[in-house]
Amino acid sequence: FKQAEENLRSPICCILGHVDAGKTRLLDCIRGTNVQEGEAGGITQQIGATYFPVENIQKRTEKLNADAKLKVPGLLVVDTPGHESFTNLRSWGPGLCDIAILVVDIMDGIKPQTIESLDLLKERSVDFIIALSKADKLYGWKSCKNAPIKKALEQQSKDVEDEFKMRLRNIITQFKEQGLNTELYYKNKEMGKTFSIVPTSAISGEGIPDLLLVLVNWTQKTMVKKLAFRNEVQCTILEVKVCEGYGTTIDVVLINGVLHEGDKIVEPIDTKIQALLTPHPMKELRVKGVYQHHKEIKAAQGIKITAQRFYIIMQGLQDAIAGTSLYVVGPNDDLEDVKKAAMEE
Ligand code: GTP
Ligand code: NA
Ligand code: MG
Repeated sequence: FKQAEENLRSPICCILGHVDAGKTRLLDCIRGTNVQEGEAGGITQQIGATYFPVENIQKRTEKLNADAKLKVPGLLVVDTPGHESFTNLRSWGPGLCDIAILVVDIMDGIKPQTIESLDLLKERSVDFIIALSKADKLYGWKSCKNAPIKKALEQQSKDVEDEFKMRLRNIITQFKEQGLNTELYYKNKEMGKTFSIVPTSAISGEGIPDLLLVLVNWTQKTMVKKLAFRNEVQCTILEVKVCEGYGTTIDVVLINGVLHEGDKIVEPIDTKIQALLTPHPMKELRVKGVYQHHKEIKAAQGIKITAQRFYIIMQGLQDAIAGTSLYVVGPNDDLEDVKKAAMEE
């Protein structure tokens, strides 16, 4: 019997913000990928999911000399669209996640979908950290690749420092107008009451170590109960799509529990899980790539499920079931219990 604190699932973090605030690019910077450049019109149109193993997070936060012990197995990050026409998709994010990153462009400040995102987070009582993106756009910014933000700021000229302070002050005022207290994270003495701001650049990586560390430390500190691993499967469908070589597949986020190859799915369709696929760690689920096969997968993860009968059942159903729960009968579950739970939704 493991203590709850020793058996935590990976926290799920969703990224929200106005269109082009830099959400996907921020993830690209952490992953070392180019997902954003491959998007049609540079616009995210689906929910994405990327798994970061704790070893990668540890490595990325090394420069902060934090002796914090990371107790979670990793972090599942869910990317969302910021464009105004995707309100529906965006609204799933806060329902899936434990914590969020609200991305605000340092040059633009708070915009309509920033406010919409704030409302979604409030509605679901989801805690969040603000990434103040594109710090490298401050005129004359001296790039300090992947440096902690405090160090990077110390390297800047007086002019850059002044512009930074002026923009930060304005954005703190804008948040105040929305009824929120915010402060630079390393000056924030009352996390939980005052929201932390981490300036970042997705081009040169400044502030990325800080963002990751604040995120993981905060979830570990405040959410041990919520993150205690539970066997009950909790799983949300992101998308149904044809995937070359696999036929019709379902992309899901496994929030809690374990999925096994061969598990019976009872809702929204009756079939058996044929294969459990994930992208490699640090790769985006919504981008076609090379998949890893698993006999079983523990939460939290972004997973592609294949089954033989999807293609017939899914015709015309794709849109209807996206965003709904997937009900799974595991090896130790009672079929009737699961069916009852599905009916109650
Ligand atoms: P949607 O998903 O469509 O809402 O946009 P997004 O928030 O994911 O923003 P995206 O990552 O697509 O970035 C928008 C534009 O800003 C792209 O041209 C990026 O290259 C640019 N950008 C993002 N982050 C940074 C940054 O830190 N510095 C600079 N200079 N440009 C950035
Ligand atoms: Na974009
Ligand atoms: Mg995006």
